[in-house]
Amino acid sequence: MKRAIVFGATGGIGQAICTDLANSGWSLYLHYNQDEQKASNMVQRYSQLYPQQDFIPIKLSFLTDNKGLMEFVNSLLPINAVVFSQGITDYTFLSDQDLNKIDQLVQVNLNTPIKLTSLLESLLIKNDFSRIVYLGSVYGGNGSALEAVYSSTKAGLSRFAQSYAREVASANLTVNVIAPGAVDTKMNALLSSETMAEVKEEIPLGRLAKGTDISYWVRTLLDPNANYLTGQTIYVSGGWLI
Ligand SMILES: NC(=O)c1ccc[n+]([C@@H]2O[C@H](COP(=O)([O-])OP(=O)(O)OC[C@H]3O[C@@H](n4cnc5c(N)ncnc54)[C@H](OP(=O)(O)O)[C@@H]3O)[C@@H](O)[C@H]2O)c1
Repeated sequence: MKRAIVFGATGGIGQAICTDLANSGWSLYLHYNQDEQKASNMVQRYSQLYPQQDFIPIKLSFLTDNKGLMEFVNSLLPINAVVFSQGITDYTFLSDQDLNKIDQLVQVNLNTPIKLTSLLESLLIKNDFSRIVYLGSVYGGNGSALEAVYSSTKAGLSRFAQSYAREVASANLTVNVIAPGAVDTKMNALLSSETMAEVKEEIPLGRLAKGTDISYWVRTLLDPNANYLTGQTIYVSGGWLI
């Protein structure tokens, strides 16, 4: 049985990823931070649709200390794939940004994913093939004003993935980043409708991405045949900012 853990399963993109993976025969750990109800609804739905697969909700704040991260990883069954689709942002000028918020952005988007990757490695490389996918952003390749810290975390993920991919390639563990443009999820709910209309104007494809536009690429990277692509950042942005 192939099993993946999807961090941020309760997010707009995470839900699409879980639906696609469940439909492709994956058993899943569905990670949530606060939205226990959504995670348990997803588990119920998938369990009815795919009774031969396992679906397990699992809670973790990425603001947890190192001991908490180790306990979390020690509680897991073997896995073939990890998808990091959690994330937070904050739209503000750097000089107005609360210093604690800067710590949180770096911890949730970059530091904890790196630490979990380190802790999960021994579970992953026991398999014939294994995969890690991080959700990056076009802003990781093309920094955005008012999201300087967010952009730096996403750029950091791309370089981390490239470097780490070279360490583990011989163990058949591929490591890649799917970097969306603007996706229609609650992460963008902070922006006014005027700002969103302006963003849409700038996207060559003329629309925001749906979760499924992103999950398609995650599912494809998790396919056992996708074993010769590693260390890459793939921009899925409708042609925007690339
Ligand atoms: N939406 C976009 O336009 C866009 C564009 C480019 C890249 N991305 C990236 O794609 C990924 C998914 O974005 P999304 O749009 O699906 O976001 P979203 O709908 O806002 O979902 C965010 C997810 O992160 C989890 N989360 C929040 N704080 C957390 C914490 N402290 N510890 C652990 N998990 C936490 C949430 O869990 P709970 O809901 O359970 O609390 C939720 O599952 C992110 O990495 C984001 O940066 C998004």
